[in-house]
Amino acid sequence: SINELWARRPLGAGPAPDCLDAIPGPTNWPLVGSLIELLRKGGLTRQHEALVDYHKKFGKIFRMKLGSFESVHIGAPCLLEALYRKEGNYPQRLEIKPWKAYRDMRNEAYGFLILEGKDWQRVRSAFQHKLMKPTEVVKLDGKINEVLADFVGRIGKIRVNGKIEDLYFELNKWSFETICLVLYDKRFGLLQEKVNEEAMNFITAVKTMMSTFGMMMVTPVELHKSLNTKTWQDHTAAWDRIFSTAKVYIDKKLTRNAVAAPDDLIGDILQNSCLSKKELYAAITELQIGGVETTANSMLWVIFNLSRNPVAQRKLLEEIRKVVPPDQDPCGEHIKNMPYLKACLKESMRLSPSVPFTSRTLDKDTVLGDYAIPKGTVLMINSHALGSNEEYFGDGKQFKPERWLRENSTINPFAFVPFGIGKRMCIGRRLAELQLQLAMCWLVRDFEIVATDNEPLDVIHSGLLVPNRELPVAFIRR
Ligand code: HEM
Repeated sequence: SINELWARRPLGAGPAPDCLDAIPGPTNWPLVGSLIELLRKGGLTRQHEALVDYHKKFGKIFRMKLGSFESVHIGAPCLLEALYRKEGNYPQRLEIKPWKAYRDMRNEAYGFLILEGKDWQRVRSAFQHKLMKPTEVVKLDGKINEVLADFVGRIGKIRVNGKIEDLYFELNKWSFETICLVLYDKRFGLLQEKVNEEAMNFITAVKTMMSTFGMMMVTPVELHKSLNTKTWQDHTAAWDRIFSTAKVYIDKKLTRNAVAAPDDLIGDILQNSCLSKKELYAAITELQIGGVETTANSMLWVIFNLSRNPVAQRKLLEEIRKVVPPDQDPCGEHIKNMPYLKACLKESMRLSPSVPFTSRTLDKDTVLGDYAIPKGTVLMINSHALGSNEEYFGDGKQFKPERWLRENSTINPFAFVPFGIGKRMCIGRRLAELQLQLAMCWLVRDFEIVATDNEPLDVIHSGLLVPNRELPVAFIRR
C-alpha cells in the first residue's frame, strides 16, 4: 500500500507525499462534479481548451470529476517521466466497454486496444518486434508509395481552383487504402473515381462504429444492450461488417502464406506468431481501426501548418529537391537524409496533435511528484497541454521546425508524446511516421500548398482534434 511504500522510503527522502484528496482541481459539486463548469467553458468539444486552462490554473497536476468519472490529469514532463520509470509490465488504458461487450457477445477475441495483462503482452510482443523496428517498417515504402502515386494523381484531378472538396475525407480514404494494402495486400480502390460498394460499406462501418461508441462510454453499455437501443444496434451491425470483411482478407492472406512463404511484414507476423486465428482477426482489425483517422488527421494538420508557413514549406521543398532525384519516387532511404522534413512533422504534431490525450489506469499505488496516487486511479496524459505550454516550448504558438534541429536541443523528450509513452505507446508509430513523411515529399514536390485565407482556425474535440471548417488551403501545381 501507499503507506508501506513510504515507510520503506530511503532516509532523508523528504516529507511523505500528499494523498489524492490534496490534488488541486476545479470545484467538485455533488453528483455533477465539474461537468457544469466544463459545459460553461464550451462543452465537450472544447474540452482540450478547458484542460489547458486548468493546467495553467492548477499547475502540473489536477484532479477532476465529471459526473461519477474521476481522473487525475498530468501535463508535465517530470511527472510523465516518473510514471514511465514506475511503469509495470502491463500498463492499462481506460477500458473501452462497448468494444468488449461486442466481442463477448459474438465470442470474438480482444485486440491491442482492449486487451489487458499477460494476454495484451502476448499479442503485443507478436507484432512489436517487426512493427516498431524502423529497418522492418521501411520495407513498406513500396506499398505506401503505390497508394501515394494514386492519391497525388487524384488531388491533381479533383481540384477546383486548387481547392479540394472535403479534403479530410480524401485523406481518410488515402490512409484507409494504405493500411489495407499493408495489412491485407488488397487494394480497395478508394481513390478511384467510382469507389466500389464493398469499400464504401467497409469505410462507413468503421465510421459508424467510431461514432456510436462514445455514447456508450458515458452511459452504461449493459443498459444499451438490454434495451437494444439504436446506438447498440448500429454499433454491433457496424462491428459485424468490419469483422466479416477483415476476416475474408486475413483468411486469403493466410491461404497465400500456406502456399508460398510470405514476403511482407504482416505475412511474416501471421506466419510466425503463436496466436490463434481469432486473436489474429482482432489484432489486425484493431491495427486498421487505430491507423486510419489518426494518420489522415495528422496529415490534414501538416497541410494546414505548411499552408500558413510558406518559408518553412520552401525550405522543405529545397530539402526534397536536394535529396530526391527528380526522376525517382521518394523512398525510405531518402527520408533518412531529410532532417528538416522530420522536424516539420514533429512541429506539426506538437502544435496540432491529433490525439490530445491518452490515459492510464494505475495498476498499483504510485507516487508521482508530491502525491501518492492509489491503484485504480485513471490518469490522463495530456500531450496537447504539454505541446502548448510555453515553459517547454518557447514561442509555442509559432510553427518553428528549427526548434527540433538545434544542436544541444533542450527539448525534454517527455514534453512531446503524440504517440503516448512506455510499453503501451502506439504500435503503429513507425508506420504512421513513414507514411506521413513520404506523403509530405510527394505532395510538396508536386504542389505548392497555399492558404486561401488567414483567419484563425477553430479546433474542436471529436475524439481527435479537428478543424471546425473546411481547411482554407489550395494546391497549386508547381
Ligand atoms: C495507440 C496515436 C497511428 C495503431 C495509440 C495511442 C496514441 C496513438 C496516442 C495511445 C498510446 C498510449 O496510451 O501510450 C497515434 C497517432 C497516429 C497513430 C497520432 C498517426 C499519426 C497508428 C497506426 C496504427 C496505430 C498507423 C496501426 C498500424 C495503434 C494501436 C494502439 C495505438 C493498435 C494501441 C496499442 C496498445 O495498446 O498496445 N496511438 N497513432 N496507430 N495505436 Fe496509434
